[in-house]
Amino acid sequence: MQLVTEDNITELAARRWSSAHDPRTAQVMAALVRHLHAFAREVRLTEPEWMAAMRWLTETGQISDDKREEFILASDVLGLSMLVVQMNHAFDAKATPATVLGPFHIDGSPEKEFGGDMSDGLPGTPLYVTGTVRGLDGSPVAGAILDVWQADEEGAYESQIPGIDEARLRAKYATRPDGTYCLRTIAPKGYSIPMDGPVGELIGGTDISHFRPAHVHFLINAAGYEPLITHLFQEGAEYLDSDVVFGTKQELVVTFEARDPGPTPDGGEAAGSWLEARYDFVLQPV
Ligand code: BEZ
Ligand code: FE
Repeated sequence: MQLVTEDNITELAARRWSSAHDPRTAQVMAALVRHLHAFAREVRLTEPEWMAAMRWLTETGQISDDKREEFILASDVLGLSMLVVQMNHAFDAKATPATVLGPFHIDGSPEKEFGGDMSDGLPGTPLYVTGTVRGLDGSPVAGAILDVWQADEEGAYESQIPGIDEARLRAKYATRPDGTYCLRTIAPKGYSIPMDGPVGELIGGTDISHFRPAHVHFLINAAGYEPLITHLFQEGAEYLDSDVVFGTKQELVVTFEARDPGPTPDGGEAAGSWLEARYDFVLQPV
């Protein structure tokens, strides 16, 4: 019989979980047990606190569905998602850094031509994002696919608006033979993460800002290169230094230059004023 004490329970539990048949699962579970126990010992976790944590986890599961990923949001605000991204995408210093995917990417966005408008007449200041996709040696990458998505002026993503049956503020663009791309959209605004669930309840009891700075999301795929999940952030935007999900990086901050009515980068003509963000993405070879 194995008698349990406060002193030996951690080793007993870790050893038991080391019996997982898959070696990596055994390693991860034993370490999880050790760190969980160390955490409980450090804070001298009480029974009411343990019960509150169990209730919080239950509610986090209950509010989640195929459109709402509250556990991922929890991981994001704890900085875990961004830590995992950084450990697993340690690119060359010259490559564009990766950031979190976030919960609002939708597969199967429509393909648009060079300069195509992914805002489809939604209210907002016109924004052209232009540049070249390159390899580490500076050579242009032809045929890279930029999958782009963002929130509207109210901070809402397509999946947060009920009853939408066509793509909203998302599209795919291919780079031309010289590696260049051009997309038209509306200027993004900073927005709050969903605060009506267990994550919001936790954050509401702190001084943590629940906002993200204005940004556009990119997922770039090109043959021979690592997929790049990243964002571009507007220089000078509010919340750049307090992003609630720790997704901001200096290399991803870009100036949105104000432009007068006149020629636009897609060869068109703007009747009103507009913004231009120029950015060259640099991909990490496989
Ligand atoms: C986003 O930028 O879409 C996002 C990322 C993480 C959590 C919430 C939103
Ligand atoms: Fe976002």
